[in-house]
Amino acid sequence: MLLIALILVGISMTSVSALANARKIIFDTDPGTDDALALMLAFNSPELDIRAITVVPGNVTAKQGLENALRMTSLANRCEVPVASGAQHPLFQKLITAEFWHGKNGLANVDLPPSKCKADARFGPDLIIELIHASPHEITLVPVGPLTNIALAIQKDPTIIPLVKEVILMGGSVKGGNVNAAAEANIYNDPEAAQIVFQAGWPLTMVGLDVGDKTLFGRKELEEIGKSHGPMSDFTYKIGKFLVDLSGQFGGSGTPMYDPLAVGVAIDATLVSAQAMQVEVETRGEFTRGETVANHRNEVERNVLHHFPAGSGEADRYMIEGLDKVEPNAKVCLDVQADRFLQLFVSRIRGR
Ligand code: BDR
Ligand code: CA
Repeated sequence: MLLIALILVGISMTSVSALANARKIIFDTDPGTDDALALMLAFNSPELDIRAITVVPGNVTAKQGLENALRMTSLANRCEVPVASGAQHPLFQKLITAEFWHGKNGLANVDLPPSKCKADARFGPDLIIELIHASPHEITLVPVGPLTNIALAIQKDPTIIPLVKEVILMGGSVKGGNVNAAAEANIYNDPEAAQIVFQAGWPLTMVGLDVGDKTLFGRKELEEIGKSHGPMSDFTYKIGKFLVDLSGQFGGSGTPMYDPLAVGVAIDATLVSAQAMQVEVETRGEFTRGETVANHRNEVERNVLHHFPAGSGEADRYMIEGLDKVEPNAKVCLDVQADRFLQLFVSRIRGR
């Protein structure tokens, strides 16, 4: 009897200390099939302590997104995690939803049981502000949707900026977009919000489209997940199957794990290699609105206007007089150990 009690105390002490060492994250999401995979990975990873899930409109409306987040949190039996609704639309433009890619309900048309969890009454950006002040320098923000909620939080209380440990976001690209030639969806869906977040001056890691495209979850990984059964692995299997089938319809051999990779980087930053760059979000370009314009060299030419006297035979012109350094504001992921990441994903979903 005493031995059993000691073992139980030992187990609970171990899980308390694991949680104490875990990275505290706020998961900001527009759920979303790959958001769902990301959330399942987060729920199954002891390295992460999910302090809140905040919902932003993007893949689906704010209302549908909240319902999805609540049902998934309930499925994971994690009603202690606050789930809060946030913005109802992007800062300055109309919402663009993506049921075309994510299914009518955003979750591959998988009908999860109604949620036992209740929505937190707080407004998402307010909850973000509150939690950052409650744990200064400890919270990592993991936004995997448009950056509206995070921008609203900064606008309402800029004092949170130096108190955030890190931002690890899924969004942007340094090699072209998925919405169009230039822009990735999360940035395109709220470019002004994205520019606020990128220029905030906090440690920011960009897990972009181009690196996510290297993490293809295919039939092999799907079969592995199909070997384990439980509410979360069965759900992950259904989402994964929908996405793998969908990629097949477009000639792909697997589905890119965009949002799960951002969670993967929060778990283990050595999965990716990154380079510090200055990134600006284009908000005005005719063809490039929503592009993340990254300066790989972190320098710009200095062009100085020279005036020439009338009659000199020379028109006024700019002349390059050197190079000015620009400060990087983001660690931009450029490569990923895709197999290691996919294995991590599969093993976590299988509870191994
Ligand atoms: C991003 O856009 C959304 O459709 C996905 O959930 C992901 O966050 C990829 O461009
Ligand atoms: Ca997303």
